[in-house]
Amino acid sequence: MKVIAVANQKGGVGKTTTSLNLSACLAELGQRTLLIDLDPQANATSGLGIEPVDEISASTPMMGEAALAEMVIPTRFPNLWLVPANLDLAGVEVEAIRSGDHLTRLRDALTGMRADAPFDFIILDCPPSLGVLMTNALCAADEILIPLQCEYYSMEGLAKIVGVCEQLRQSGANPALQLCGILMTMYMRTNHSNAVIGEIQKHYGDIIFKTVIPRTIRLAEAPSHGQPIIQYEPGGLGSAAYRALAKEFLAREGVKAVTMAD
Ligand SMILES: Nc1ncnc2c1ncn2[C@@H]1O[C@H](COP(=O)(O)OP(=O)(O)O)[C@@H](O)[C@H]1O
Ligand SMILES: [Mg+2]
Repeated sequence: MKVIAVANQKGGVGKTTTSLNLSACLAELGQRTLLIDLDPQANATSGLGIEPVDEISASTPMMGEAALAEMVIPTRFPNLWLVPANLDLAGVEVEAIRSGDHLTRLRDALTGMRADAPFDFIILDCPPSLGVLMTNALCAADEILIPLQCEYYSMEGLAKIVGVCEQLRQSGANPALQLCGILMTMYMRTNHSNAVIGEIQKHYGDIIFKTVIPRTIRLAEAPSHGQPIIQYEPGGLGSAAYRALAKEFLAREGVKAVTMAD
C-alpha cells in the first residue's frame, strides 16, 4: 500500500481535480483506491457527488478519537472509496497547534490501515496552505505528487514545496518521503506554457510526468455534476489525459495495469 499526497501550497493549481480523477482512473484500472479529502472546503467530496457529513472526516481520527477505517465510505465506483471532508478539519489546525505532536497525527491515524492494507493506493487531497493539514499529509505520505500550472510564477512555489519536503526528510519527520512526480496542469498550446515546461524540465528532468493535463472546460464542469471526468465525458481529452496519467503513475510505481480497454 502506498500513500500519495497531492500537494502544492498554492490554490487553484489542479490538486483536487488531479486527486479525484487520478483516483477514479486508478480504480478503473483495478487498483483498490482510497481518496482522503483533507481540505475543509470538501471539493473532492462534492466532486464525487457526496455531501459532507457531520462526524465523518479525517478530523476525529487525527484527534485520536476514532479509527480512520470508520470514516471510509463507498462511492458509486468499484474499487473507489472516500474519506470525505467536513468543516471539522479546520478545527484540527487549531487543536493540533495548541497541543504537541501535531505533525504526525495523520501518520498515526494511518497505522492500522498500513498494517491491514485494504487498499493499493491512498490519495491525499491537500488543502492549499503550508499549514497543519498539509504538513500532516507530507509526514504521512510515502510520496508527493505536485500539480503545477503551466505558468511562470509556478516555479517559485515549486522550489518552496520541494524545499519543505527536503526539510521533512532531513529533520527525520519523514525521512523516506519521495517525490512521485511533477504534473503540469491546465496546459494550453502557447509559447508561454511550453517555455515554462522547458524551464522546469531543465531543473527537474524526468521527475515531470510525460502526461500533461490540458485545460478543458469539461474538467472544470464535471465536479458540479458530482462526477469524475471518466464518467462525465469518457471519450474526451480530459479523460484521455487522466487515464494516461494513471498508467504512467502505475508504471513508475512498478505496477502492471491490466485493463479490458487495452
Ligand atoms: N485541466 C483543467 N482544465 C480546466 N479547468 C481546470 C483544470 N484543472 C482544474 N480546473 C479548474 O480549476 C479550478 C481549480 O482546480 P482545483 O483542482 O480545484 O485546484 P486546487 O485543488 O489546487 O485548488 C477548479 O475550478 C477546477 O475545476
Ligand atoms: Mg483543492
